[in-house]
Amino acid sequence: KRPVGAPDKKLARPVSKVGVIGAGLMASQFALLFVRRLQVPVVITDVSQERVDKGLSYIRDEIAKLEAKGRLDADGANRLRALVTGTTDKADFADCDFVIEAVFEETGVKQQVFQEIEKHVSPEAILATNTSSLSVEEIGSVLSNPERLVGFHFFNPVAVMPLIEVVKTPHTSEEALATAFVTAKNLRKNAIGSADAPGFIVNRLLAKVMGEAARAVDDGTPVADVEAAFAPLGLPMGPFALIDLVGWKVAAHVQDTMVRHFPHRFHASANLHRLAELDAPLERDKKGRITGWSKKAQK
Ligand code: CAA
Repeated sequence: KRPVGAPDKKLARPVSKVGVIGAGLMASQFALLFVRRLQVPVVITDVSQERVDKGLSYIRDEIAKLEAKGRLDADGANRLRALVTGTTDKADFADCDFVIEAVFEETGVKQQVFQEIEKHVSPEAILATNTSSLSVEEIGSVLSNPERLVGFHFFNPVAVMPLIEVVKTPHTSEEALATAFVTAKNLRKNAIGSADAPGFIVNRLLAKVMGEAARAVDDGTPVADVEAAFAPLGLPMGPFALIDLVGWKVAAHVQDTMVRHFPHRFHASANLHRLAELDAPLERDKKGRITGWSKKAQK
């Protein structure tokens, strides 16, 4: 039976080489997943060789960890290492048939990246964005072929979280959508189709939880108490542990997007942006439990 919103999988295009634009933590995590599950060449790029190297070394470290845990044998690990390459030259994306970006969460930046990529890839290549809350249609509006663009939104930590939100715009072709659903299945993830609406499905809820938790702190409740109050609810982690996991800047950005689109339903926490500027705003005990704010955050 087809998942809700999934097109006929026979329309899916083969994915024999994957291009990843951005070599930050999210992009590096899913680059590793692509190479591990699809066993095809994966090329990653970023704005500098230094960033590319950082992404590559994260991937190599994670492969070494999988090997140490016995999840990969030496041959398997070496095969993965050989399949992942880095470049600063977008021309190396020419033979990619699935290109996904996780660059800075700003529509203009993503548009620029895709416009450049479109010059290099074949007209058949599928383009995907890992945006967590921006309009996929708007990102694709500058493309000569917006039908090939689809949202493909992973969750952190990518290796563990089972969901990918597949976002369809009014222009997304059935081929692009089918390729996204089949690729998600090959990655052993659960794909759910989402409308191209701010926050898609999950971030609408998470932005509420994170935002209201932050506002409870703005109102004067200590951070450790807000975190502790969530513990009996059975969530895998409290709201501040989650913000810390996804990144304070990402959380602040998602909040801004939701407030901009739904000003009557979402309200910004005054502190989220300030805390996002700090390296590590939270203090934790030896067991990793949140005990309060770091000294810098208290100022
Ligand atoms: N990277 C890779 N693997 C990780 C990881 C990470 N950051 N954190 C944990 N794992 C792995 C561990 O290696 C372990 O794997 P094995 O069983 O193979 O050894 C497994 O996950 C379980 O880890 P732990 O036993 O250490 O910890 P846990 O059971 O407490 O689970 C958790 C940790 C999976 C992070 C869990 O707390 C959880 O599910 N938290 C909620 C995460 C969540 O909601 N994510 C969505 C965030 S929103 C988002 O990403 C989208 C956005 O646009 C903002």
